[in-house]
Amino acid sequence: MEKILLVINDDKVKMLTLDILETLNLDIYLSSATSLLTNIYKYQPKGVIIYYDTLAYDTLESISSTLSVSYIPTIAIVNNPDLLKLPNPLTNLTTILVSNLKMVLPTLVRQLLVFSNNYNALSIGYDTFTLMNDEYKKVMNHFLNATPEDENRIIEAYFKMIYTDMPFLTNRPKIIWMLEKLDAYILSTLISDDNQDSALSYKQLILYNSNDSYFEHSKETGFYVNLNTQELSDIEDLAQLLPEELLEIINPERNIAVISTDDILLLCYDYSEKIINSDIAILKSIAVKIDMMKNVKRKMKDIHEAFTYTMNALARAAESKDDITGHHIKRVNDFSRALAIQMNMTSDFVEDIEIAAQMHDVGKITIPESILNKPGSLSDDEFKIMENHTIHGEEIIGKSTYLGMAKRIARSHHEKYDGTGYPDGLIGDEIPIEARIVALADIYDALRSPRSYKPAFTHEKAYDIIVQGDGRVEPSHFDPLILEAFKSIHKNFAILYDTNKDM
Ligand SMILES: [Fe+2]
Ligand SMILES: [Fe+2]
Repeated sequence: MEKILLVINDDKVKMLTLDILETLNLDIYLSSATSLLTNIYKYQPKGVIIYYDTLAYDTLESISSTLSVSYIPTIAIVNNPDLLKLPNPLTNLTTILVSNLKMVLPTLVRQLLVFSNNYNALSIGYDTFTLMNDEYKKVMNHFLNATPEDENRIIEAYFKMIYTDMPFLTNRPKIIWMLEKLDAYILSTLISDDNQDSALSYKQLILYNSNDSYFEHSKETGFYVNLNTQELSDIEDLAQLLPEELLEIINPERNIAVISTDDILLLCYDYSEKIINSDIAILKSIAVKIDMMKNVKRKMKDIHEAFTYTMNALARAAESKDDITGHHIKRVNDFSRALAIQMNMTSDFVEDIEIAAQMHDVGKITIPESILNKPGSLSDDEFKIMENHTIHGEEIIGKSTYLGMAKRIARSHHEKYDGTGYPDGLIGDEIPIEARIVALADIYDALRSPRSYKPAFTHEKAYDIIVQGDGRVEPSHFDPLILEAFKSIHKNFAILYDTNKDM
């Protein structure tokens, strides 16, 4: 029941007022002018009715400051019409004469309740939006970096933030379903623990296949159905809208709100209070935000894929002049990745090196085929030209910040830990870590593959050469930590090599 606070210190007026209000089914509390503030906090009334005549002006002022703290519509009853002409300290005030009370009060109180409810909903909605928007950036960042498995967890946390962490948002659904429009609709649920209204927990419910167009119905505006009322917004029949499988589960005799975007549908039910437009507006804002996160992430993925594809094409173009196959690129990526993981590098590093490693020999595109594929050993001059593929590679990759790692690998993958490499003769940790990793990956693959100057070696032979040296390749060429990592996972190298073997 709606609560109204009465501040009337005249028995006759009080009786009359109570009489009139009786028909309205209200919770009425009496208060003195001095305890008004306390009672407002105690009862949280939708409105206040005061009797004006007997109140001193300074009492009115104190009431005024009380009511301005929390905006509460007020009706003032006046006996002396002259009082209506006095300057009035209360702004949110409607004044009526005692003589008109019976005629006007019921309507006024009804209006007051409507106004008060709308005002509350509006301010709750406003507060919710503010918080939602503040949090959104954070959520977005998390979402964009999340693994697919974590995405729903992040969305769930966002729902929790809105529907359980905001104390002022009182009308909240107990159960939220999010349907994703993919090839099949995946129905996921956010279900509250029955005993614990505030604890939403997430679980995947069913996989739903449908070509139904119910996604379209609720698009843009959303709709709601309130318990035991015929009131439906923007739709004619819930049964038309939701497929049978869903109707069976949700039982339409509940407060239900639905909104959809191009990609998702949010279906919420068991709202604690009557659903009104501002609840839909909140839901819509959530839906739009989730939709946007998913879209941005999809776009990023597309760009990333296009980028990776281009890198791969460039790497293949460089290798095409060589007698080295595309499999070499793939394998060097795989070996580098495996080493990076074994060395506990960050997931970003692992992801980057997997793309960047294949670019290591991009500079070979500038080396004449006669040198690249020359059988037997190169002359000193030819070797000088050959060495330049590192510097040319760096130049070809250019200045893109996304390609920083690829650039460093291209330049430094022939550096050796003991300082005997080229083009810069860097020693130890002067060589970028990614280049040190690719160096070992590249040499292992070269040992395993046939070259114009040597046959293909077995895994065991390649392993022995790297670990013990053979005069050309020496263990001192490698970063000891990377060598250790290689020793730990060398059997995986054999498997990875066989997986992408040259035909
Ligand atoms: Fe190279
Ligand atoms: Fe290579």
